[in-house]
Amino acid sequence: MKNEMRDIIESKKFLFFGGKGGVGKTTMAATTATWLSDHGYKTLIVATDPTVSLSAIYGQDISATDITKIGTERNLCGLNINPKKAMGVFQSRLEGMMQGFSTMFGSELLSTPCTEEIAAFDQFVSFFDDTTHDKVVFDTAPTGHTLRELSMPFDWSGYIANQIKNRRELSEVLGFVYDEKMVADLEVEKARYDHSVKGLSDESVSAFNLVLLPEKLPIEETARAVEDLGGFGIKVRSLIINEVIPKDVLKGNWFLERRRATQDKYLTEIEQRFPTITRRQVPLFDTDIYGMDILRRVGRELYGE
Ligand SMILES: Nc1ncnc2c1ncn2[C@@H]1O[C@H](COP(=O)(O)OP(=O)(O)O)[C@@H](O)[C@H]1O
Ligand SMILES: [Mg+2]
Repeated sequence: MKNEMRDIIESKKFLFFGGKGGVGKTTMAATTATWLSDHGYKTLIVATDPTVSLSAIYGQDISATDITKIGTERNLCGLNINPKKAMGVFQSRLEGMMQGFSTMFGSELLSTPCTEEIAAFDQFVSFFDDTTHDKVVFDTAPTGHTLRELSMPFDWSGYIANQIKNRRELSEVLGFVYDEKMVADLEVEKARYDHSVKGLSDESVSAFNLVLLPEKLPIEETARAVEDLGGFGIKVRSLIINEVIPKDVLKGNWFLERRRATQDKYLTEIEQRFPTITRRQVPLFDTDIYGMDILRRVGRELYGE
């Protein structure tokens, strides 16, 4: 039987997992990374969520600075981007760039409202130039945050373009000699962000997947995310509907049957509201999910045997 989810992850290099908090993003990202590495793909899983979930799910420390080999898996590595640390790296790079020029511009650049998010994004986008892995799986932060991350390079790129323009005009009007190197550096910076935006919306390399539960709130949040991402030219490739109660456990239990009936209602709603997006259900497991064995079981549900 054809498994569309499997086609998606095998045909794209950059795989993103988004959705509301607690719906199973980290679980699905880790499941996917494990499945891919088991199937011979050299895979890197990157968490941009400032939590330790990735370390907990694999049962080992995953570094924020260096790519860490996961367990004894031949093809699997991880990185847990820490926004605070990313900020330090980013600041020193910018400061280096600003050296010898009016510090006013420098401090202005470093004190834009979302420098910390820019810094995390800055590390995150560097993966679009990755050539050492076959697949890069992103365990993204919850929807609102993700969108903020995504909207940043757009503003950022406009901001840098403005700085370049201002600098040129100032130097013409006031006869300043402006620092050619710095303008060149800013241009490099702008190109970097433009490149990342292109990567995110390039359907030939990237696939955005949203995880949700068959419940009202996650459905509404998903609808908003689909719309918001669409505004940035990003098409949501699949919906993973998680924690569906298996029919064979109902056995006349009225509580479970009611719960499943509610889920059925929302499963129909999901079909009607997102008819053009690939959908795949994952059952509710009888335990929580961590460790290779259970991740492989989830992988069989998502991508087949
Ligand atoms: N299909 C499932 N069956 C049972 N437990 C699940 C399932 N999917 C996720 N979980 C559990 O739900 C919790 C939240 O999942 P997680 O992946 O951390 O969510 P998120 O990253 O979206 O915040 C975890 O404890 C995880 O083990
Ligand atoms: Mg998570």
